[in-house]
Amino acid sequence: MQDKKVYIETYGCQMNVNDSEVILSILKDAGYVRTEDMGEADVILANTCSIRDNAEQRIWGRIGQFRIQKTKRDVIVGITGCMAERLKEKLLDSHTVDIVAGPDSYRSLPAMLRAVTPDNPQINVLLSHEETYSDITPLRMDRNGVSAYISIMRGCNNVCSYCVVPYTRGAERSRDPKTIIREAEDAFCRGYREVCLLGQNVDSYFWEDPDTPDDNVNFAQLLESVAKVSPDLRVRFSTSHPKDISDEVIYTMAMYDNICSHIHLPVQSGSNAMLEKMRRKYTREWYLGRVAKIRSVIPDCGITTDIIAGFCGETAQDHRDTLSLMEEVGFDSAFMFQYSERPGTLAARKFPDDVPEEVKTARLNEIIALQNRLSLESNRREIGKTHRILIEGVSKKNGNELFGRAGNNKVCVFPAEGHRTGEYVHVRVLSCTSATLISELIR
Ligand code: SAH
Ligand code: SF4
Ligand code: F3S
Repeated sequence: MQDKKVYIETYGCQMNVNDSEVILSILKDAGYVRTEDMGEADVILANTCSIRDNAEQRIWGRIGQFRIQKTKRDVIVGITGCMAERLKEKLLDSHTVDIVAGPDSYRSLPAMLRAVTPDNPQINVLLSHEETYSDITPLRMDRNGVSAYISIMRGCNNVCSYCVVPYTRGAERSRDPKTIIREAEDAFCRGYREVCLLGQNVDSYFWEDPDTPDDNVNFAQLLESVAKVSPDLRVRFSTSHPKDISDEVIYTMAMYDNICSHIHLPVQSGSNAMLEKMRRKYTREWYLGRVAKIRSVIPDCGITTDIIAGFCGETAQDHRDTLSLMEEVGFDSAFMFQYSERPGTLAARKFPDDVPEEVKTARLNEIIALQNRLSLESNRREIGKTHRILIEGVSKKNGNELFGRAGNNKVCVFPAEGHRTGEYVHVRVLSCTSATLISELIR
């Protein structure tokens, strides 16, 4: 029998990308091969995101496209991921979707695919307290073969009032460190030169071995073990929570050259009133204290962030507090969003979404404009400095140039001069834009 073909589209965060790789690995063992052409697929999957309303709207648009495929031929359409978990049976009302599978149900996908018929859609949205897919080697979807994602935990135990993730991903659970290290070693043996350890809140990673309860492993210890896999394997991680990032993690980063000097530290707002309402459990002062600590131990550390504009009850002063915090820290880059109310969250139940749409947009635009200036200033400070770069590929703008990232996460472009993806090179920064460092090779 010919292998069945599966096509998958992925939305949302890096963890969801890694989940798609887990799904593909499970389906491969069940006899499916991946196709990148939706038109020839036997199974179309959308691995979805619910973080903001516009993320879900995009996916509804895609479901419309899948319906067109269904009018042409027999094809199974499955929705996996966060939107499957949030909307459950409601997704079946579209009469386009045959399978609804939440983030903890992927092992049951082969059985669901066997059982599904047009009159018998399949749904599994059970959340688990244990599932970490620890024994599954993800089928890597990246094309460059340089950088691999490794999920070290799943779910989230925080209750940030705006956030849907605890509802779509369930309770936090950490993965057995032995399986994490094995996966990092395996990636290195296959030629990968960078791993990115993923979790919603990596600082709360904690493994208690059921057999040896005294052998606990925290995030700093895990980071150290992964760094020891090889000095030629770079280690990154995301996301750090400002309330939980420990001195031990910062010192561990400083101790190992191959742990990249970059921390993604989402602040969300610079106003204490907003932080309190967001239930972030830290203040502006605490955040600035963590940044000061990071910079005292790792002076060249890249610090990036996430910001939400226009959260419930945000005043003009709260907004100015965000702008002033951004200036004070001088973030290297940021992901910036307009607040989007998510049904069922604490904020949706307790606080009116009362900042008018046009005010949200104006504030977001101001935040983006400021960050563009800060990114440019931060990049200008790099001019004249040298960096060790891991080459990730050929520059999109110029086929004779390569690009890669410095430890601090900044993207550098430089002349290829015979070098290849996956190699390390040293460069000197000559000039910059707000997004890129233009560099020369040094020998
Ligand atoms: N676990 C990470 C963030 C995961 S979600 C953390 O705690 O930092 C990624 C980002 O999406 C968040 O940092 C936040 O800035 C944004 N976000 C989450 N919910 C949102 C909402 N309802 N509206 C707008 N942005 C949101
Ligand atoms: Fe959402 Fe907060 Fe958990 Fe991040 S830490 S995933 S923002 S609840
Ligand atoms: Fe989106 Fe789910 Fe990630 S809501 S951001 S895909 S955890």
